[in-house]
Formats: sequence, C-alpha cells, structure tokens
Amino acid sequence: MEELRVGVLGFGGMGHYHSTNVKVPGVHFVAACDLDAEQLADAEKMGLKPYLNDEDAFFADSGINTVLLTVPNHLHKQYAIKAAKAGKNIICEKPAALCIEDFDEMTRIAKECRVLFEVHQNRRWDKDFRIIKKVYDENLVGNIFNIESTLHAQNCKLHGWHEFKRFGGGMIWDWSVHLIDQALFLIQDKIDTVYADLKRVFCTEVDDYYKIIIKFRGGQSITISHSTYGLKPAPRWLVMGDRGTVVVETFAGDGHLYKTTEFVPKLPPRIELNPAGPTRSFIPLAPGVLVTEDLPAVETSWLDYYRNWVDVLNGKGEFKIKNEEVRRVLAVIEAIFESGKTGLAIPFKYDN
Ligand SMILES: NC(=O)c1ccc[n+]([C@@H]2O[C@H](COP(=O)([O-])OP(=O)(O)OC[C@H]3O[C@@H](n4cnc5c(N)ncnc54)[C@H](O)[C@@H]3O)[C@@H](O)[C@H]2O)c1
Repeated sequence: MEELRVGVLGFGGMGHYHSTNVKVPGVHFVAACDLDAEQLADAEKMGLKPYLNDEDAFFADSGINTVLLTVPNHLHKQYAIKAAKAGKNIICEKPAALCIEDFDEMTRIAKECRVLFEVHQNRRWDKDFRIIKKVYDENLVGNIFNIESTLHAQNCKLHGWHEFKRFGGGMIWDWSVHLIDQALFLIQDKIDTVYADLKRVFCTEVDDYYKIIIKFRGGQSITISHSTYGLKPAPRWLVMGDRGTVVVETFAGDGHLYKTTEFVPKLPPRIELNPAGPTRSFIPLAPGVLVTEDLPAVETSWLDYYRNWVDVLNGKGEFKIKNEEVRRVLAVIEAIFESGKTGLAIPFKYDN
C-alpha cells in the first residue's frame, strides 16, 4: 500500500491540528517547515523533521510525498505551485486561492506535474451539516421553503493575519468558504442569483459580518449569516418545510425535528388577544398537536477526508472534494464581493 508521508508547510493552528489529530492508517506526518522557531519546536517534539525558514530543503526532502499547505491564505498559490514542481502531492487548506484565475493556474500546474491536489473542505463532514443533508435528501420535512445556515461567534476579534486584506483575511475568505461549500453540496442545482450584505463591524480592512442569500433556479434558496459578535447564539441550522421544521442548535448536532399531528393545524374560530396582540396566526397550537422528534442519526468524521486520500493514492476511487466544486465556490465568492459593493443580487452567469 502506498502511504501518505506529509510535510506540513506552516506549523501554526491548523498545522498543529492536522498532525495531532489525524490518526489514519497510511498517513504519516514526517516534517514541518515554518518561519517561527517556537512553532517548529512543537513539531520536533512530535517527531516531525523541522525546517526552520528553509523551504528549499523542505521541498527537496525525498521523505515527503505530500505537502500540506497550512500557511496564511495569500501563500497558498505560490506554495502549491512550488510543491507541484517538486513532485509532491498537495493538500491545500481552504480557501484554495483568492481568485479563480489563481486556482486554475494551481490545478493546471498540478496536472502538468502529475501530482494529486485536493482542498481541505473538512466541514463537508460536520455532524450538524450531515444531519441537514439527510433531512434534505430524504425529504424529511416535505417541500422546503426556508434554509438558514447561521453562525454567531462572541469573541469579536479576528485572529492575527485574518484582520488584513493582503493576507487574504476577513470572514468571507475564512468561514464563508466552508458554509458556501456546504450550501452548494446540499442544494445540487444551478444558481440563479447571489446577494450579499458585507460589513466591517470591528475590522477596518476586511468584512467581519455577512449575510448571503443564494437563490437557485429550481426555486430553493439559502441564507447564510455570520457575525463575530452575536452574544446570543442562534441555531446553527433552521430548515422549514411544509411538513415540519428542523432546528440543529450547534456543531454537536443537537436539536429536534418538529411536526404537527394535523397536516395543517386548524385555526381557532376567533381572534384572541395575547402578547402578539389580537391574532389568529400567533395563537399557540392546541395541546398535543406539536410533535417533537429526534434528529436523524448520522455517522461522520473529518478523518474520512484523509481515508479518502489513502484510497485515491492507491488507485481506489476519486477525491470527495472535486476541484470543480472548489472553483464554483470561488465564483460565488466573486459574486458576493460584487454584490457587497453594488448592493444588487448578482445573476450567477458561471452556471450558464
Ligand atoms: N479547514 C479548517 O477547518 C481550517 C481552520 C482554520 C484555518 N484553516 C486554514 O488554514 C490555514 C492556516 O490557518 P491557521 O489558523 O493555522 O494560521 P496560523 O497563523 O495559526 O498558522 C500559519 C503558520 O504559517 C507560518 N508561516 C507563515 N508564512 C510562512 C512561510 N512563508 N513559510 C512557512 N511558514 C509560514 C506562520 O509562522 C504560522 O505558524 C489558512 O489558510 C486557514 O484558512 C482551515
């Protein structure tokens, strides 16, 4: 069996994450390169061969057959190309690139150099997302008319280089890459329009709040919103269909599926006065009409990403994350920035 011998370029947060947590047969973390001696000291303690500020020696190391790019976003392109030219396979952290042209160059050179290249869109395997995918694919709440994918963090600050445009900072280049990837994997339809409201609440250079609405040609739509300072967390997912509602509260996949015993619960005969004012619509359902069910069970693990790598390396199957899918997410992001500037919903010509 051919094995993955991974050299990690950039031993910061994600460099640490991959090499500490990925325990998969056939995957070995063998070396690390960074500019920061403290980060590399950790790598060395973990048994990885350290390359301090010596990328040429790192790329020339014949013990490495795959380079993991966990450097800041603006460096992905140059190092993916360097890795390909050194004959190394590439696992690239998201966002793969900061524009489609750069991504095309990376994939073209990887192909020319006959190396494997896949982007780490690990959140395709998130439990909360897999539950929603199952609800959607298996029609568990009937015809869906509203999907909300929401994240409100509470720490307000972006971390280090994420605050600055020149490094590919901002929340669009950070979390939205995952959330859009999930949305397009969930709703497999051509996109009609993309609308975005982008704000700089605490950051001066980059967006740290966004609301995105993607409308699909078949009539479906999804609203994705994310702030860095939302002190009362909203449910991670809200999905509403004509036969039920699903709430997934957090990444842990906790929540419920709500249904009613009658397909269309009967309205009370008279308007009532309650805190909503005089109303029929907002009278609570009669006792026993609302039924709360468990969410569907799912089995999922981020490690499946690496298991898939070992399979592909050994000629079994294809990558789960397709480069064409990554490219389409980048096209959506380009439309998001255009919408953010113009305030308009942007027709998504990419899918023509
Ligand atoms: N997939 C995910 O769930 C996920 C989560 C967080 C971050 N990321 C991505 O991972 C990448 C890294 O993010 P992070 O949070 O680990 O950043 P980080 O700042 O914690 O780590 C980056 C590391 O790269 C090093 N570095 C910078 N320039 C270098 C160079 N020229 N050569 C070698 N090393 C260099 C830095 O010293 C630092 O140790 C980003 O692209 C980010 O978007 C992905």
